[in-house]
Amino acid sequence: MSAPLRLGLAGLGTVGIGVVKIVQAQAELIAARAGRPIQITAVSARDPQKNRDADLSGYAWETDPVALAARQDVDVFIEVMGGHDGPAKASTEVALASGKHVVSANKALLAHHGQALAEAAERNNVALRFEAAVAGGIPVIKALTEGLAANRIKRVMGVMNGTCNYILTRMQSAGLPYDAVFEEARQLGYLEADPNLDVGGIDAGHKLSLLAAIAYGTRVSFDAVELEGIGKVSIDDIRLAEDMGYRIKLLGVAQMTGRGLEQRMTPCLVPADSPLGQLQGGTNMVVLEGDSVGQIVLRGPGAGMGPTASAVMADVLDIARGIRVPTFGIPADQLAQPTPATSATPAPYYLRMTLLDKPGALAKIATCLGEAGISIDQMRQLHRPGDRAEDAVVLIVTHKAAPADIAHATSQFAATGVLVGQAVAIRIEAV
Ligand code: NAP
Ligand code: HSE
Repeated sequence: MSAPLRLGLAGLGTVGIGVVKIVQAQAELIAARAGRPIQITAVSARDPQKNRDADLSGYAWETDPVALAARQDVDVFIEVMGGHDGPAKASTEVALASGKHVVSANKALLAHHGQALAEAAERNNVALRFEAAVAGGIPVIKALTEGLAANRIKRVMGVMNGTCNYILTRMQSAGLPYDAVFEEARQLGYLEADPNLDVGGIDAGHKLSLLAAIAYGTRVSFDAVELEGIGKVSIDDIRLAEDMGYRIKLLGVAQMTGRGLEQRMTPCLVPADSPLGQLQGGTNMVVLEGDSVGQIVLRGPGAGMGPTASAVMADVLDIARGIRVPTFGIPADQLAQPTPATSATPAPYYLRMTLLDKPGALAKIATCLGEAGISIDQMRQLHRPGDRAEDAVVLIVTHKAAPADIAHATSQFAATGVLVGQAVAIRIEAV
């Protein structure tokens, strides 16, 4: 059997300790599958005194992850600290420059610096892998770069943030408002240290931008992702959508159009009986559509110790086996600079608004829609307990309309003098 592959592990939190546990518990199986033993030689974290519920006694300790990245007895540097700059970036750069392979779970780092890091990996003839960074335990990077390598990808779509999916499904099943469930998620430890990474759609946007780069052979362009978080999704919309046979999801969609690359991570309505509509709790789902294969649906745990460490170790095993695939599927210098396109693909829209309940009110709203070229498919007026007697809640589902036309029409509603508060517009995605 060949010489052991030696790992340097930077980060001993949820994911890092998961890696330690797999390396220790599955040593024999991993060695058989990799054709050589895989062992950790050195680790790094901030606090050497912390009880980490794992036996780290056989490993050298480095307080500075950059020093770990440069060690002679490390072949593969595993970066599971987090953060898109600072020590994560510095240590990854040093590891690549020192001729070490890198495995990272850090979607923020890859989304911001993926191109430069991929170029550095190729310059130094080493691998840079990031299976764990997108959808946790789901092997979606491998599916896209290898399993679907012969396909022209038509669309990449998915629910890629478990915390948001937990919040939205819990609001729906328990009938609780956003703020209450957000607090629950905080208590359960589901939220990132900066919760806006989750509920602002940023974390999921990072993941989508990485998938889009592989799918379309383009440089990662996270800045071009159209982002809207779930903070404005109300329990009213969740209930009303449910009554109409839909569920609200924070849905990512990337597709190459004639105008350029569309990437959006926004709340959308999807049919309640579709696989995406059925997705509960913290689970992730990624849908890949290729010209030859048709539609592939991947579903599984998007986070957590075991699932994320499983993905990290899958990358390590590929490196041990000598499998080399360019970071984003094709050599970094051949990745095209994408032309970002704001979303223009027409779709039906769900519109909710409160109107003054008086003659002609609805006609004024219908005129705004008609003048923007938008046709109404369904309409309902509701009076619910608690609504003011002089108000009417109106729900409209449009036929397919361009996002810009919807934005224009809804911007005209206020001038009608019949709108109370603000109208809500949510895209209905065909899935
Ligand atoms: P975590 O539990 O917060 O652990 C972070 C680890 O990094 C800690 O051990 C911490 O040390 C160490 N660290 C932070 N700054 C450091 C520094 N300057 N020098 C040395 N060590 C440092 O984070 P995590 O949940 O494991 O996530 C790690 C990465 O995986 C992140 O990029 C995250 O986005 C990604 N990821 C996580 C999950 C998940 O389910 N958790 C899923 C997919 C991807 P101390 O312990 O001493 O503080
Ligand atoms: N905060 C992320 C989520 C963790 O909720 O999906 C995994 O990337």
